[in-house]
Amino acid sequence: MRFGVVTLFPEMVEGALSHGVLSRAIERGRVAVDCENPRDHAADAHRTVDDRPFGGGPGMVMTPAPLSGAIRALRARLPAAPVVALTPQGRTFDQGVARHWAAHGSLVLVAGRYEGMDERVLEQEIDGEVSLGDFVLSGGEVAALAIVDAVSRLVPEVLGDARSAEEDSFGDEGLLDCPHWTRPEVWEGHGVPAVLLSGDHARIARWRRERALARTRARRPELLEDAALDAADERFL
Ligand code: ADE
Repeated sequence: MRFGVVTLFPEMVEGALSHGVLSRAIERGRVAVDCENPRDHAADAHRTVDDRPFGGGPGMVMTPAPLSGAIRALRARLPAAPVVALTPQGRTFDQGVARHWAAHGSLVLVAGRYEGMDERVLEQEIDGEVSLGDFVLSGGEVAALAIVDAVSRLVPEVLGDARSAEEDSFGDEGLLDCPHWTRPEVWEGHGVPAVLLSGDHARIARWRRERALARTRARRPELLEDAALDAADERFL
């Protein structure tokens, strides 16, 4: 999976990618992330990337030339990649979108700063806008990193065990994940469900499935409408 990220803060993106599962995936060549800084496409001595909004008002707006220069540089390196801007006004990102992009193989993410980007860049250079949810971040970098992480987990051989991604919440079955416990068997007087210590793998699998179903029904009942349920699941519910 190849990502391009347009950002004024490449160190922020690179720093976050230098830990854990993602850094191993990058080392092993399963994932590549290529940053492009609009500042490197600014024409003036001060490398200006923002200006005051026409019509007045607070804050600054990212100017079109440096931003489009950075996007075009990444487009040239990743010609098949959709170019997506991170904004609070976009379509809400979810696991279905993550699966779609993971299957596609390449993606360019454009992280804005300040009050926003000049609308002409969104119109001319961007294939779509995506939001993490109904809240406002100081910039798109944190959102871009969330998307790089969620998509990369779905790339083959990024996770140690392929079942991890299938069994995660919103995995192949469309349910929330079941709860998990580990050692010690008793912690501050609290034990763990006895079935998990039984060694009976079929019973454990059925019990976990029922916990996932019960949790989904309690917390996100609307997910059950599209979940892959069998006859035993229906009886349990
Ligand atoms: N940039 C600012 N707020 C955002 C959000 N909610 N999602 C994605 N990008 C953003």
